[in-house]
Amino acid sequence: MQNTLYYQNAFLEYLETFSKIREPKNLYQPIDYILKLGGKRLRPVLTLMTAEVFNYDYKKALDAALSIEVFHNFSLVHDDIMDDAPLRRGEQTVHEKWDVNTAILSGDAMLIMAYQLFENYDSKTFQALAKLFSKTALEVCEGQQYDVDFETRDDVTISEYLKMIEYKTAVLVGAAMKMGAIVAKASNEDQDGIYNFGRLLGIAFQLQDDYLDAFGNPETFGKQVGGDIIENKKTYLYLKAIENLETSEKKQIEQLFSVNLQDNDDKIETVKEFFVKSEAAKATQAEIENYTNKAFAVLETLNISEEKKTILKQFGNTLMTRKV
Ligand code: IPE
Ligand code: IPE
Ligand code: MG
Ligand code: MG
Ligand code: MG
Repeated sequence: MQNTLYYQNAFLEYLETFSKIREPKNLYQPIDYILKLGGKRLRPVLTLMTAEVFNYDYKKALDAALSIEVFHNFSLVHDDIMDDAPLRRGEQTVHEKWDVNTAILSGDAMLIMAYQLFENYDSKTFQALAKLFSKTALEVCEGQQYDVDFETRDDVTISEYLKMIEYKTAVLVGAAMKMGAIVAKASNEDQDGIYNFGRLLGIAFQLQDDYLDAFGNPETFGKQVGGDIIENKKTYLYLKAIENLETSEKKQIEQLFSVNLQDNDDKIETVKEFFVKSEAAKATQAEIENYTNKAFAVLETLNISEEKKTILKQFGNTLMTRKV
């Protein structure tokens, strides 16, 4: 088994052969744009690594890896419309660079392309991949709907939040790994085990995403810092702040999260102060560690070599300390 950089490069090379701008250009150019904009390539790397964890040639998992990354990028194109986000990976979002209609249709095409990539597998593998993909994609939609619904609700609980991030983000990380296991023809037990590892790591990943959305460095983060605060997202940071603050400050932050402003600079600053003061920021970091450790505990139950466990753990630890 190789290091993550190796799989990332192998993936990027494969991506070059995939993304071709065809007619009509206004459909395919945005697809090529978003796919080549960079990103960590976390999910496809996990797919390739998992194939090798189960003693299979990672090259056979390249189409599944590509499918996951195309789906992920589709979800970002539509997510950026829904979140009214101006920046992605340090560049303009698709709906800003083109327009909303273009972003909707290019996104739709990407979803179909993601599915189409399974045609490169034998019928049994195709069926297993498509089944997992359909289930996962529908869950992502459910998670995204909860995320939007929560913007205008003032009674969201932490357990509802955790369910929401499990659906919008974590199941795809689990599925990325399970696809590698499916291609590798791993046992059902191993497939489920690695799915759970990825799912728990995915929850930690989204908690970290929420943390960085408030506290990331604007120079390097690549997204609009404070975007979740502007959109009144009921993140772990917010829910913990509400839980910990005394009544008058709690009322203040709740009031800030019940309005949509034109100028958000003061709102962002005040809310971030509350996040720190209430120790919600600390609590979020503790929860990131908690879910990463839960993932590691699942890893221990898997039937794979210690060497492979160590590589997967290293991966989990780097995710926990990431800045982008
Ligand atoms: C962003 O995912 C969306 C979330 C689910 C948090 P990533 O942070 O993996 O985005 P890229 O692909 O690296 O840009
Ligand atoms: C995105 O969650 C989840 C999906 C795209 C399905 P976010 O809205 O937090 O992701 P970012 O922060 O825009 O990358
Ligand atoms: Mg978003
Ligand atoms: Mg979103
Ligand atoms: Mg986010």
